[in-house]
Amino acid sequence: MSRPSPLITVMIKAARAAGRGLARDFGEVENLQVSKKGPGDFVTNADHRAEEVIYAELSKARPGYGFIMEERGVVEGTDKTNRFIVDPLDGTLNFMHGIPHFAVSIGHVREGVLNAGVVYDVIRGDIYWAERGQGTWLENRRLRVASRIKLSQAVLATGTPFIGHSPERHKKFSDEMAALTPETTGIRRFGSAALDLAFVAAGRFDGFWERHLKSWDIAAGIVLVREAGGVVEEIDGGDVLETGNVLAANPSLTPKIRSKLKSV
Ligand code: IPD
Ligand code: CA
Ligand code: CA
Repeated sequence: MSRPSPLITVMIKAARAAGRGLARDFGEVENLQVSKKGPGDFVTNADHRAEEVIYAELSKARPGYGFIMEERGVVEGTDKTNRFIVDPLDGTLNFMHGIPHFAVSIGHVREGVLNAGVVYDVIRGDIYWAERGQGTWLENRRLRVASRIKLSQAVLATGTPFIGHSPERHKKFSDEMAALTPETTGIRRFGSAALDLAFVAAGRFDGFWERHLKSWDIAAGIVLVREAGGVVEEIDGGDVLETGNVLAANPSLTPKIRSKLKSV
């Protein structure tokens, strides 16, 4: 087993600390489902609290590192070479509806390159971690992406646009689904991009694509997939952290999925 480095150890500690609060709050959310007001504000507060816990832990352990955080935004560090990219709660809609599938996601960039990632599946208690050159791990099990190379045998995950998104975005998504559904064994929409990527790294999903994600949704998951032998690309050839148009799979499947996406 690869021993997590001091950096990974710090990231795992922060993810677990935030996860403890989220797990407690998730219990409360279930009681709030039936209230007239609904759990909206409560979830927003849970989200912010989790981010504050992560920020406090990481900035104590690595003073000077910069941050990109979903809620707080960019925090410039004195150390310009290291930066954490944090989503304290990925899968907010699941959390809000009492659906037990959400995660804490912490990525680390060194000198502009994605270097490490931790995704914590709070309900299952699973910590996924990866660091450049160290592989991808789920507890003490090394992970590999699935080896299926035929689209006809593949189970893919994706993310759907929702109310408030432009008609163009909805149309693009419907067209992409129409191009891929007849070619694959199945398509899933679980509602946490960080866990979708972790599941690709673990060989559960054969591939994942989604457009318009944010850097905090995917930074950690990208490292997980790459270190598990997979490929992560920007669907149209740009910078994936900039556009958030993600395609992830094993090296044989990636071009096949891409060509279907590009056919629409
Ligand atoms: C969302 C999840 C979801 C994806 C959305 C994201 P959030 O993040 O990753 O799977 O489809 O686009 O915004 O809002 O739950 O942190
Ligand atoms: Ca997110
Ligand atoms: Ca979030």
